Amino acid sequence: MTFEGGDGSGKSTQSRLLAEHLRDAGHTVLHTREPGGTEVGHEIRELVLHHRGDIVPRAEALLYAADRAHHVATVVRPALASGVTVVQDRYLDSSVAYQGVGRELDAAEIRELSLWATEGLLPDLTVLLDLDEADARGRLDAANKRFDRLEAQGTEFHARVRTAFLALAEVERGRFLVVDGSESSSDLAVKIAARIDELLAERGIESATSASGSDVRTG
Ligand code: TMP
Repeated sequence: MTFEGGDGSGKSTQSRLLAEHLRDAGHTVLHTREPGGTEVGHEIRELVLHHRGDIVPRAEALLYAADRAHHVATVVRPALASGVTVVQDRYLDSSVAYQGVGRELDAAEIRELSLWATEGLLPDLTVLLDLDEADARGRLDAANKRFDRLEAQGTEFHARVRTAFLALAEVERGRFLVVDGSESSSDLAVKIAARIDELLAERGIESATSASGSDVRTG
């Protein structure tokens, strides 16, 4: 399962809380993220988020895809194959929203690029934390840290990203759970845990060594 949303939407907190919830229920959980879920990915993350000069949009898209290819092949697929539940902070929907729509590349091509990179791995469930871009910006300002390359984009860029995420969720309603990122962290955690518990029950997965996210769908 993956978490998506704009910068400052609170998805990292919620993915961590869900991983804890699942561990408490007896699941073996891998909590990971993109970019940066591997050693190579960590270097790509530094480059793509903190490089001082320009990186053209197509190069940026390829860097995220390279990080994803290596992460899926060396970490995510082996975990799924051994029955681990993977909870991941950002995945291919981020590329479609940020590079496809935010950077105004072609959204369908960016999705295809990610599917090529991962040999078609899609999550069972994607939680989208939806938050007005001005509210998200307010949270980032309050955190008082230096903005990375993507965070530093203007509100129009972030508004496009938000609209893109919502459109993706509309197209794939079965895969997405959209929650209101302005709700309290504890209310959100309860809602998300309830949906995940429901999903696991539907699949007859109750505890310990059961897998989620293991279905591979292409195209
Ligand atoms: P974060 O996950 O720590 O919030 O930061 C990662 C940043 O990278 C965030 O601004 C979103 C951006 N990003 C993309 O533009 N494309 C991608 O495919 C991914 C995974 C992240």
